[in-house]
Parts: sequence; C-alpha cells; structure tokens
Amino acid sequence: MPDKIIGFSKLSRVDKINWISKNFLNNSNEFENILNKYLNDDNKIQSLHNSFSENSISNFYLPYSVSPNFLINNNNYCIPLVTEESSVVAALANSSKFWYDRGGFKSKVLLNTKSGQIHFKYNGNIEDLQEFVNKNEDELIKSTDKLTKRMKQRGGGIKKIELINMSKKLVSYFQLNVSFLTIDSMGANFINSCLEKISKTFQELINNSDQFKESEKKIEIIMSILSNYTPECIVESSVECKIDELGSVGKMSSNEFAIKFKTAFDIANIDINRAVTHNKGIMNGIDAVLISTGNDFRAVEAGIHAFASRTGNYKSLSECSIIDNIFRIKLKIPLSIGTVGGITDIHPMVKLSLKLLKNPTSNDLMNIICSVGLAQNYAAVKSLVTTGIQKGHMKMHLINILNKQNATQDQINKAEEYFKDKDINYQSVSNFLDQH
Ligand code: MEV
Repeated sequence: MPDKIIGFSKLSRVDKINWISKNFLNNSNEFENILNKYLNDDNKIQSLHNSFSENSISNFYLPYSVSPNFLINNNNYCIPLVTEESSVVAALANSSKFWYDRGGFKSKVLLNTKSGQIHFKYNGNIEDLQEFVNKNEDELIKSTDKLTKRMKQRGGGIKKIELINMSKKLVSYFQLNVSFLTIDSMGANFINSCLEKISKTFQELINNSDQFKESEKKIEIIMSILSNYTPECIVESSVECKIDELGSVGKMSSNEFAIKFKTAFDIANIDINRAVTHNKGIMNGIDAVLISTGNDFRAVEAGIHAFASRTGNYKSLSECSIIDNIFRIKLKIPLSIGTVGGITDIHPMVKLSLKLLKNPTSNDLMNIICSVGLAQNYAAVKSLVTTGIQKGHMKMHLINILNKQNATQDQINKAEEYFKDKDINYQSVSNFLDQH
C-alpha cells in the first residue's frame, strides 16, 4: 500500500503521473502514453480543460453526436448529444423523424422558480420568529442588493422569503425558504451567494434585536444552500397523433401497438422496477443534451428522480393516453438549467452546441430537453413492446466487440453483413473473426 501523500495537488503534471505510475501501476509507461494521446494539441484548449478541475492530467473524450429533424413548437432543431451508450442517438433520430411528420413536439414551460434554504436551529417562541421574519423580509432581501443588481436588470432576482417550521420533524429545526428567478442562468452561484448573504444578515438582525435577547431565542445557522429539487421549475412536452397514423408495427396493427404501448406506460406508473428503467430511458436523452450544453446533469438527475417520487411512490415521469382515437404521450419534469453562466460561456464545444440550437433562452432549452427525453422514451418503449431492445443494442454493440478483438475494417464490414440475422455475442463474433 502506498504511503499517504501530502501536497499531491502541488506536484507538476509529470510528477503526478510518475507518482501514480510508481504506486499503482508498476511503473508502466502505458499510463503516461495513453494520457498523452488524449491531451489536446492546442495548448489553449488544453489549459482551458485543465482549468475546469483540480489534479487534471489528461482529457476523457465522449462522442459528440447530433440528431436532426427534431420539430419542437414548429422549430426544426438539430440536437447535439454527448453519450457513450450505443444506439441512444440512433433511436432518438428515428423517433424524432417519426414525430416530425405528425406535427412534432409541443412543449411549454409551466413554472420557473428556483429555491434555496437557510437551515437553522431555534428554541424560542415560534410566533415571535414568524413575526420577526415577516417584519424583516424586505431588509433581508435588500441586503443582497449588490448581488442581485444585474439579475434584477434582466428581470430576475429574489421573489420572497418564507419561514418554514420543521421542528416537528427535527427538534428546533427551521428554514428560511428563499424563492428566486434566475432567467437564463441555472443560477447556482447566484443563489448560493444570496443565501449566504441573507443568512449573515439574518444572524446579525437577530443578534441585535432586543426581542431575541434571551439565549433560547438565539439562532444557530447550520447551512445555506440552493435546492436541486425544483418542483416549481417545470416543463411539459407532448406528442400526439391519430391511432391510424402510428402505422402498423411488425405484425401488430396500429391499434394493437397503441394499446400494448400504453400498457407498458401503465406498468411503469405502478411498478418501481419498471419505473426506474423507464425513467432511465428518458434520462438517456436528457443527460446527453445536458452534457452537450454544459449543464449540471447531476443536479437535474437528482431533482427529476425526487420529482418521480413526489407522491410517496417512485413512478414513471411520462404518461400515455388513448382518448377518442388520439394516441398521446406526455412528459412533465422539473428542469433547472441555464444557457448563460457556468461553462456555457467558456467551453468551445458547449458554445457550439448552443449555437446549433439557435442560442436558446433557458425556457427554449427546457422545451428542447424535455422533448428529447420524451422522444427517447417513445423509441425505447416502442422497441421493448415490438422487437425487444437487444436487436438495436446488439447492432451497435457488435462494433464494440469487433473493436475489442482488434478486427480490421474489412472484417468489420463483413461482420456487419453476416450478423444482420444472427445472434451477436462475444463468442459468436470471435468465431467469425477466426474464419474471416
Ligand atoms: C437502456 O439504456 C434504456 C432502456 O432500458 C429504457 C427502457 O427500458 O424504457 C431501454
């Protein structure tokens, strides 16, 4: 076992690599060779990447793909997607092409308020505290004036501050819940800076108030942080068509397909085993756009899955209905994202993605992302209730297996033809390569 190292972050890149190599990889040169291959030749780009994270010693590439023919609110988009998962993009491209001819996706932002909380402890009288917060709400908001000036000019800022009594769940525990409008930015830094300022002012005002002199009326701030649960920042997308327009699918009539498809959605609404996987299919598309546009996919994932369990049971995020011969699917999700701030203004690929999407506002991007999630969901469930998922997956997986076994381009071409109607697995591909 290597000794604990002090000051690793201060080592040069080469020294970091040598230390890792010596202590974890038997001094192998391969480590450094691979890391070097993935460095960018352009020094400016490389130093930009280095600046994103501590202890950065190379880059980790993922494919940058696009999916054209995406009609959302009558705008035709070409969607940038970053994902390593085989067949996600192919499935999405098929789905968006299909819905393009049926009027495309309709999407709207229903709400766009974000929130953060100052978590604190208090042992005194609750009515006094409530009165104090009501009386000082304006003062607390005013204390952030310097921080909120620019946001207010853009139409955003702090909407309100409310006291939340949580002391029945945790002794002496209260919150100041602060609501924000952050316009086109996700606003994480903005919200956190405002919360820290408000919490400081709150503490000072309480300390200086005669009414809160007794020790049990002192407050103890525990922490101040935005919430990634954003049930008041919501977008909803849908697509619909007449059942006939679904066309026959394999041996199924359009009607049989529609009913089977809806049953799959209904299952995801009542069974957690299916709901999680159903929602994962939605996130395949959502995460890919979040990454390509420089958004925080961990925050969105956490918020969306919490939203899926808002009733107390984890459920499907999307719904399917068949009413008066109209087949309709709908996805409603919380999405706290931005098109300015963060790395959106500095990462060249992110800037490119946003340009490709016609420099959207954050509301536009919410509509795009939600529609992509729904299109991805349609594609996944369609294959599940018809051919099964493995057919499409394995076709892409074949390339991965061939590459793993160092197949030549000629062998890859032949294998793609040969495996069109055969089972694809490591052994069958290996046998094929032995013979060709
Ligand atoms: C695989 O990445 C995603 C699916 O499992 C989604 C689903 O089951 O709906 C195919």
